[in-house]
Amino acid sequence: MQAYLLEIANLLMRWLHVIAAVAWIGESIYFVMLDNGLRKPKAEEDREKGVFGEMWAVHGGGFYHNQKYATAPAKLPEDLHWSFWKAYTTWLTGFGMFILFYMTKPSSMTGGQQSWEWAAAMNGWQTNAVAVLFLLGGWVVYNELCKRISPNMTRDGILSAAVAVMMIVVSYLSTHIFSGKAAFLLTGAVMGTAMSANVFFWIIPGQRRMVKAMKAGEAPNPLDGKRGKQRSVHNTYFTLPVLLLMVSNHFSVLYAHELSWILMALLIFAGAVIRQYFVLMHAGSKQPAYLAAGAVLILVAIGVGSISSDTQTGEGTPIAEMDVSGKDVMLQMGKHCVQCHAQDPSNQAYSAPPAGYAFDNWETVLEQKAKIKRQVDGGIMPLGNMTDMTQAERDVIAAW
Ligand code: HEC
Repeated sequence: MQAYLLEIANLLMRWLHVIAAVAWIGESIYFVMLDNGLRKPKAEEDREKGVFGEMWAVHGGGFYHNQKYATAPAKLPEDLHWSFWKAYTTWLTGFGMFILFYMTKPSSMTGGQQSWEWAAAMNGWQTNAVAVLFLLGGWVVYNELCKRISPNMTRDGILSAAVAVMMIVVSYLSTHIFSGKAAFLLTGAVMGTAMSANVFFWIIPGQRRMVKAMKAGEAPNPLDGKRGKQRSVHNTYFTLPVLLLMVSNHFSVLYAHELSWILMALLIFAGAVIRQYFVLMHAGSKQPAYLAAGAVLILVAIGVGSISSDTQTGEGTPIAEMDVSGKDVMLQMGKHCVQCHAQDPSNQAYSAPPAGYAFDNWETVLEQKAKIKRQVDGGIMPLGNMTDMTQAERDVIAAW
């Protein structure tokens, strides 16, 4: 019964998470499009009122006329539409799922392909603490970069480059500390947390200060507006990569690859430059070079993904002399077993790990050592040798 209720909680929380994320990102993409699609107001009276741009649109059988004020209208209406609950709901449900389905079984978060020894050896509490620190640390570093590099929003180019470097570091660290799935999830969550925190700590408080100033008849601080814009533009570049990282959990070709950190970084950049194409397109400037750059990054990722680790398996080395580490074993699991033996197998034939064994976490692998050796040595697994496991690779398991 408890397992059943947990499963239902998982489903409902996931549903709400996706609904909130769709609503949030949809609205965010809409407003970036609106902002970039603004044209000079045609009517003289609008310009006199302080309207700086307008957009006409037809949607759902009606005509819409949006106007943006350079600073603010002479008088603010009472019923302003605010957007923040969608962002908060997305983060809260995301973090809730993280607690329920990862932090309650922290062993599933360790033992990745590229894990450092100390990381693979962490106990449950340590794993959870490091995971939470990872999310917090991501926000702190990103926020400091914004504040230090571009405090007046005048050096956003350099800032973007710094955030890009930061994401490479995050990709590297996550895949070397956590298991494949957890690394992809946590990297997505680092970006998602920064996005929500941008809304919570900067965009909404800034807007509140602006509204308060206007109601008091004072001029709002222009930095509040500029900073809100800066952070919401960052959010728009985060959206596509975050979505990819969140669905990547179904693809062991990504998270179980021994170069997964490079795949991760390449795909993050691909998402960001593809978004750039659409941002510019809405501003009236089609630059297919950005789409092409995104495609090239994806192709490079496909190329890197196809590199196999045959050279690392000690072909030709006498079995008794092979020095097999947990990492070597996990490499074999990633290549030959986790397509089926994972919590959420990418092999379409399975909706749960066959025989109940998920070998994407080191603890289970260690626990089932004898069985694994028997199955691999006996040529029973991988099932039907579907993954073409070579004798040299079987020897690695035998020597373990
Ligand atoms: C194509 C899917 C697939 C792949 C790949 C695969 N397995 Fe399996 N595995 C299965 C299925 C299905 C079963 C359940 C078989 C049964 O009915 O007993 C199973 C069962 C097992 C069992 C339990 C056997 C028992 O009953 O005691 C072990 C251990 C195992 N696999 C290890 C591995 C290892 C190690 C690898 C990688 C080298 C691997 N498997 C790759 C599908 C797969």
